[in-house]
Amino acid sequence: MILHLIYDSFDFKSWIIFFFVFLLLVDMIKNKNPSNFPPGPWPLPFLGTVFTKMDFKNFEFQLAEAYGKVFSLRVGSEKMVIISGYKMVKESLITQSDSFVERPNVPLFHKVFKAIGISMSNGYLWRSHRKFTAFHLRMFGEGKKSLEHRIQEECVFLCDAFKTEKGPFNPLAILSGAVSNTVASLIFGQRFEYHDECYQSILRLDTECVKLMGSPRAQLYNVFPRLLQYLPGPHQTIFSNYKKITNFLRGEIIKHREDWDSSNPRDLIDNYLTEMEKKKSDPQAGFNIEGLVITCLDVIEAGTETTATTLRWGLLFMIKYPETQRKVQEEIDRVIGQSRQPCLADRVNMPYTDAVIHEMQRLGDVVPMGFPKKAVKDTKLGGYFIPKGTAVSTILSSVLHDPNEWETPDTFNPGHFLTENGQFRKRDAFMPFSSGKRACVGEQLARQVLFLFFTSLLQQFTISKCPGEEPSLVGEIWFTYAPAPYRICVSSR
Ligand code: HEM
Repeated sequence: MILHLIYDSFDFKSWIIFFFVFLLLVDMIKNKNPSNFPPGPWPLPFLGTVFTKMDFKNFEFQLAEAYGKVFSLRVGSEKMVIISGYKMVKESLITQSDSFVERPNVPLFHKVFKAIGISMSNGYLWRSHRKFTAFHLRMFGEGKKSLEHRIQEECVFLCDAFKTEKGPFNPLAILSGAVSNTVASLIFGQRFEYHDECYQSILRLDTECVKLMGSPRAQLYNVFPRLLQYLPGPHQTIFSNYKKITNFLRGEIIKHREDWDSSNPRDLIDNYLTEMEKKKSDPQAGFNIEGLVITCLDVIEAGTETTATTLRWGLLFMIKYPETQRKVQEEIDRVIGQSRQPCLADRVNMPYTDAVIHEMQRLGDVVPMGFPKKAVKDTKLGGYFIPKGTAVSTILSSVLHDPNEWETPDTFNPGHFLTENGQFRKRDAFMPFSSGKRACVGEQLARQVLFLFFTSLLQQFTISKCPGEEPSLVGEIWFTYAPAPYRICVSSR
């Protein structure tokens, strides 16, 4: 009877208001935080904190100041805990590594990586693929044509390409080509010419994806994946680019299968095909053609842009701080000279250069937000309760700039990695590759490439600003943090 009266007295406007208030209540109840959940900015109904600027390079510091080193955001109805500062990030990545070892389901990544391969998978499949990749990287680090030898070969092509540049030029394409060749050598057993149109177009598609993935409009797909999958936007470009890249990878895999010889593996694809045979009776390990495509994509994605961007930061710092460049060159001349190529054994004798490379990684800060994780079980961190399944983001940028750990956190200062008598010193808060069980699997390869490329270039060239141009040290937030485009002038030494 009462319900009937209410129904009769409601006009259209009242129904709209009633419906809205009802949805609001459902949203509040559904998204209510458990007790002792990390605090955070007040979320908007339905959308959460999606309009909170996700520029963690600067904004995170303000949020951490307001809410503490462990705070929360809400993207749609997905809660996310943000962890910052060396102490808390170390606690989550190292001390409680087992609690945060898995990846959450991020719709933008899920659509591409399908939770197989290495970087976005979990559980047994992830462990098997990570073990396989780490083993392959180690295996190719040894032998007659070791990884070091392959990188040295690429150094020759890299320096030749620099030599052919007559005037000011943007080093992006050459550096990306050279770095991607070290990865290509690992995966396909071959390098590609820097002007190989097919491979260059794959690299361009990839760079565009990395750029777009950091954009707020692409991030919106993570909030409304079902709706946005039918609408245009940057997410559609990302998906179409990855489709072209994976089609290219499938083509390479088909070619490999034609003359594959398991007793004479040439590269990662050959080794994976052998692993597929061995693991036939173990489908849970996920060694199949799709797994191979995504594993190759993982290594290209995680290995190319990050390393090339670090080198771009490195060259930028060298033109901004010519005195540092001169000191590196002095050390190169003293330890290596001009008559032979740099090799990895030189590194221990070159503490200043080693410190400069560490500092360019620290201040370059190319993966500022790390990769996302999730709580595998109910966990306590910093006195807060984080329920099982909650997405967690460890802000590596806040570690690399932590004022409690670094003497001059925002200034380029190789002294961070030098003792008083000029010896190299390790720093615990140096975490550009992250840390713990999920840390970068390509760290050793990346460190080899950075050292050999950087020393080879400065052995042969002096790099300087172009007349009348003043490149900025403020970078652009892609999925990585990259320098704004700049040009250099090089002169042979
Ligand atoms: C300067 C260069 C590089 C930087 C700064 C870098 C940084 C990172 C970071 C921060 C992560 C996330 C770790 C985490 O979730 O806690 C990662 C993961 C990963 N990196 Fe790198 N990386 C670099 C080069 C490479 C290279 C050369 C390769 C390939 C050979 C590679 C392969 C991977 C893979 C496969 C993962 C996913 C690991 C997993 O989920 O278990 N990275 N990297």
